[in-house]
Amino acid sequence: MAKETISITDNRTGKTYELPVEQGCIRAMDLRQIKTGADDFGLMTYDPAFLNTANCKSAITFIDGDKGILEYRGYPIEQLAEKSSYLEVAYLVMHGELPTKAQYDDFVHRITVHTFVHENVKGFMDGFRYDAHPMSMLASTVAALSGFYPEAKNVKDKATRRIQMIRLLAKMPTLAAFSYRHSQGLPYIYPDNDLSYCANFLNMMKRIGESKYKVNPVLERALDVLFILHADHEQNCSTTATRAVGSSEVDPYSAVTAGVTALYGPLHGGANEAVLRMLREIGSMKNVPEFIKRVKNGEGTKLMGFGHRVYKSYDPRAKVIKRTADEVFEVTGKNPLLEIALELERIALQDDYFMQRKLYPNVDFYSGLIYEAMGFPVDMFPVLFAIPRTVGWVSQWEEMITDNEQKIARPRQIYTGQTRRDYIPVEKRA
Ligand code: CMC
Repeated sequence: MAKETISITDNRTGKTYELPVEQGCIRAMDLRQIKTGADDFGLMTYDPAFLNTANCKSAITFIDGDKGILEYRGYPIEQLAEKSSYLEVAYLVMHGELPTKAQYDDFVHRITVHTFVHENVKGFMDGFRYDAHPMSMLASTVAALSGFYPEAKNVKDKATRRIQMIRLLAKMPTLAAFSYRHSQGLPYIYPDNDLSYCANFLNMMKRIGESKYKVNPVLERALDVLFILHADHEQNCSTTATRAVGSSEVDPYSAVTAGVTALYGPLHGGANEAVLRMLREIGSMKNVPEFIKRVKNGEGTKLMGFGHRVYKSYDPRAKVIKRTADEVFEVTGKNPLLEIALELERIALQDDYFMQRKLYPNVDFYSGLIYEAMGFPVDMFPVLFAIPRTVGWVSQWEEMITDNEQKIARPRQIYTGQTRRDYIPVEKRA
């Protein structure tokens, strides 16, 4: 049988090294023994943006980017989106198995009774200007929670960890809705524990004068499906940020804040907002070919909502979202920007530029259209991504904290600056 090793010959010295190969990887630390002499630090790898580096072992999410496969704990995303609910998926992502009925009821109960926030959190949020972006309000307020739950720093204790994870899942919709209400100058609506996770969120967002806001069940289910699709996505930018910050053993609120801020960027969770702004800018079908030309010529814009580091075929989440969009538009009426989006997709999928680079619609291409049709303002789109991704962040954070192989994240660098030189007094500087 072939050996699970690789031999590397260092042409600088003529020496050959045999390194173990485990699950398609070599350990970067095994390269350190490859030296030109006793003073040599040893070989490192250079991998900006982690293009080809596994940073952890994870049992949570599996992606095959070439085949367009996404699975949480082994369950295909299509089945979960069709048959499960967000909180059941959250349980699965957190615990590794689907819950029994009793486990599910207990989980939902625990989430439901933690949806309220301390009254001072409201005061904290009131400190923001009326036009603060809800994502920056969300990030700051999640960070502030660390001050409300000082015991959260005890990250080695499982029970303490778990209660913070529940709190984060439970309070995220409340903070998200409060940030929206603040921006609109509307009174905050407290959580209603009689409602489901999504219905409660919609109620906190939308209720104004009525004693009971009537949540449309189709829209409630559509939001639940969107939340399922966004629950986790293995080592994406925000999860990597959460893991890296969490690796210093700071509390999970501080670690998850890193996830929220990373998600805010237009190349990540901010893309759904950027897609909508792009579609509005294009404005009409007749402008689509000209826009595609500008993208291909690199004239200052990308086709937002297209492309992915891992998916080199259709993003499976985008497929499910397209179906959900139809159901939502039945209720809300069609988003007029939909036809521009469909035309962009049609042209891009036949165009050499996009085909050669394997650029397909990702999850953000259609999600914004649904959110807009449901009446959410564009600023809220990344927030709507952050709510469900919280379970991914906390689960990946806990996996990292309990992984004996993990240490504080601390990459190496290749120094390209000046060699040592002596200080020059100011009067002698040119
Ligand atoms: N429009 C036009 N060209 C693109 C696009 C795009 N959306 N995405 C990638 N390219 C080109 C890129 O210019 C490069 O071309 P060349 O080889 O000529 O230099 C080539 O495709 C490879 O792209 P890359 O930038 O090396 O790919 P990456 O893996 O570093 O970036 C990405 C992935 C998602 C950041 C990028 O595709 C992008 O910026 N897309 C638009 C933003 C977006 O939709 N983000 C949401 C991602 S999905 C949700 C999430 O998980 O966050």
